[in-house]
Amino acid sequence: MNVNEFFKKHNFSQNVCADEMLAEFDRQMDLGLSAAGGSLKMIPAYIDADRAVPTNTPIIVLDAGGTNLRVAVLWFDSCGKVRMEDFKKHPMPGTGSEELDEDSFYNAFAEFLVPVCRRSANVGFCFSYPTEITPDLDGRLLHWTKQVKAPGVVGKMVGAGISRALERINGIKLSVKVLNDTVATLLAGKSAGLSRRYSGYVGFILGTGTNIAYIEDNAAVKKVPGLDPSRKMVINVESGNFDGAPASDFDKAFDASTQDPGVGLFEKMISGAYMGGVGMQMLKMAAQDGLFSKPAADAMLKLENLETKDFDNFVANPFVADGMFENMPLTDDDRRTAMAVGEPLFVRAAGLTAVNIAAAVIRSKTGTDPLHPVCVTVDGSTYYKTRSAFFKSRVEEKLREILGSRGICFDIISVDDAPMVGSGVAGLIS
Ligand code: BGC
Repeated sequence: MNVNEFFKKHNFSQNVCADEMLAEFDRQMDLGLSAAGGSLKMIPAYIDADRAVPTNTPIIVLDAGGTNLRVAVLWFDSCGKVRMEDFKKHPMPGTGSEELDEDSFYNAFAEFLVPVCRRSANVGFCFSYPTEITPDLDGRLLHWTKQVKAPGVVGKMVGAGISRALERINGIKLSVKVLNDTVATLLAGKSAGLSRRYSGYVGFILGTGTNIAYIEDNAAVKKVPGLDPSRKMVINVESGNFDGAPASDFDKAFDASTQDPGVGLFEKMISGAYMGGVGMQMLKMAAQDGLFSKPAADAMLKLENLETKDFDNFVANPFVADGMFENMPLTDDDRRTAMAVGEPLFVRAAGLTAVNIAAAVIRSKTGTDPLHPVCVTVDGSTYYKTRSAFFKSRVEEKLREILGSRGICFDIISVDDAPMVGSGVAGLIS
């Protein structure tokens, strides 16, 4: 069997049918905004991105991602430049091997807040998980993604939980404002890009997980009655849960091996926590189907897990002598096969990423005047560091194709520490 036959047998295609998938994204975005179900949660952030950001006012920021928890104090100086102090990085509670109970989870956050808790009465809390936000910016965790182990926190108000834990420790009560990392990234892009006079803003993350936020007319947010129809607000799409991308046998086998089968299907196809796992299924099935030499196939079948970084490095250069492929008995033909099998996964991911960004940009109905493009702020190591398939430039090329052909002008920018900066903005304007 050759690689093409192998892909056909396992229902895998590297080509993404952009028009079809964009239509499905749009349909499900409407469903999510009207609370009629679908795989996109379309969570209102209750943040009006047009509010002015006060200067010289310190705010505490917390950034809870899939791997790290960052704490700092930041403010915008008189020129609007971000200043940051007391920056500390800790492992994200619940990402170790042990499961954490609810109290231990909040206590860990509270302990990290103790050194900075007298610097401001407010905390901008970037919480990078599907979380329903209340109009006063607390957040109820809907479910975990990124394989975090703290089941007792699901369904709870995380801002209030952290605030209570800190008060128990030292009597200090802080107001914790919760927002998603894509919302924070959008706001960070807005605060950094004022001089360009963009017409719209999108915040996209491709790191451990993936997701996107954009600005929607309040009138379209049918599931929340009583919003001012003349204004707009930021919407967290939770696009990692999109179920409209065709799944191959590799995706299905990998999904079944995770702690949350059926959840985050799109994220499992493109993000850093998972692409290595899908790649491992590809290599194993290729080994079973006789695409590798016998010694290489035996070694592939013994793989127990595969980090995205190791898989990417191997596909980009199958002579690498570290990671999971160390000491594998590979012939040059095996290496050629590994590249031919692995690279299409990154090609597909680039196509899916472009469709995801385009769906939000189109939805924002901006960028029609070349003088005022849409500002797409992108954050996340998978986007910037993936080496295989010319990943980043492939996404950009695809976006130029999809948006360019629709007459939409856009710009892609990155902002240092976007989730923290955006959380500062949110805490200060709310
Ligand atoms: C979470 C999103 C988050 C994204 C990027 C996903 O797993 O569900 O809330 O924005 O990862 O960090």
